[in-house]
Amino acid sequence: MGMFDKLLANLKNSRKTIVFTEGTDARILEATDRLLKEDLMDVILCGNVEAVNAAAKAGNFNVAKATVIDPLTYPEFDAMVKTMYELRKGKMTEEECAKSLAKSNYFGTMLVKMGKANALLGGATYSTADTVRPALQIVKTKKGANLVSSSFILFRTKDGVEEKIAMGDCAINISYADKLDKDGNVILTAAQQLAEVAVETAKTADYFGIDPKVAVLSFSTYGSGKGGTVQLSHDAVIEARKLNPELVIDGEFQFDAAVSPVVAKTKCPDSKVAGQANTFIFPLIEAGNIGYKIAQRLGGYEAYGPILQGLNAPINDLSRGCNADEVYKMAIITAGMAE
Ligand SMILES: CC(C)(COP(=O)(O)OP(=O)(O)OC[C@H]1O[C@@H](n2cnc3c(N)ncnc32)[C@H](O)[C@@H]1OP(=O)(O)O)[C@@H](O)C(=O)NCCC(=O)NCCS
Repeated sequence: MGMFDKLLANLKNSRKTIVFTEGTDARILEATDRLLKEDLMDVILCGNVEAVNAAAKAGNFNVAKATVIDPLTYPEFDAMVKTMYELRKGKMTEEECAKSLAKSNYFGTMLVKMGKANALLGGATYSTADTVRPALQIVKTKKGANLVSSSFILFRTKDGVEEKIAMGDCAINISYADKLDKDGNVILTAAQQLAEVAVETAKTADYFGIDPKVAVLSFSTYGSGKGGTVQLSHDAVIEARKLNPELVIDGEFQFDAAVSPVVAKTKCPDSKVAGQANTFIFPLIEAGNIGYKIAQRLGGYEAYGPILQGLNAPINDLSRGCNADEVYKMAIITAGMAE
């Protein structure tokens, strides 16, 4: 199955609307031109109408079929402020909501929350934190989820064979610590959180046609090393099996034990994952972020993501170094994952 088959089928079955927060960016406009030409989805561009049209003209992009919305002149702006104020339940004042909504990252996210768009893609100029924070605050985690995380799908063709792997979480959760209630009781352990990342990353992998064999990574294999996050990776495997007994998951593994059949034979011969893992879970963002970039830059993989997991609606973040083709593909991924 091709990377985009399921997504394109979903887009064909029911029309989706995507909102781009950076409507004047040339890469966004080029991707919009292509998405509209191919009639894949409807597009909302956030930004000053004259500025968006001028930027489209300058790049010779046809975005006539897109809806351009300027937060500052949006007729329903006041109602939007009130809705956001209610949603933030005393965490933000009305003035703070109005100030936030004047910016496209919050405004676009509220369009999704209010059902005016199915999905959002931002981050061509906004940082990851500034793209993701409005989603965490407004769209929030879906029912049954405790946290939002992310994964990358990495794809390459080697010797004529297509290879796909998944990695999580390389972009959102910086580290994992036990979550406590106000009395200091543990309500969710760090291992339970990492386990949720593993289960969600396996689901994303499956969505992209990968039959997930999940390795929770470490600098230790089956207790060969001590300290750092070794115990966390070990315990996350146990917790993930509780969350989904069907999941093919094992660890903690060093990366070579996870992918090399030769190393696996020596270090963990009885594992159903070691030596053949295709879905990798990192115990810290540093490892994950560095890891996927090594695969991308030295391993020749194309990287798609971060694909956010656990949110009530698909909202994704672009790399600020992205090109128009990446925007186009991420738009298909983002809108294509909308229900
Ligand atoms: C995602 C991130 C922006 C959130 O950080 P933050 O804004 O400081 O988060 P806060 O702790 O202030 O929380 C803001 C809200 O988001 C929620 N939140 C934070 N992290 C969350 C998570 N992983 N899942 C679900 N909700 C989360 C909080 O509960 C809070 O909600 P509330 O305001 O309704 O109470 C931060 O973790 C981050 O910067 N991650 C790394 C991003 C990055 O640079 N990646 C590398 C590039 S790809």
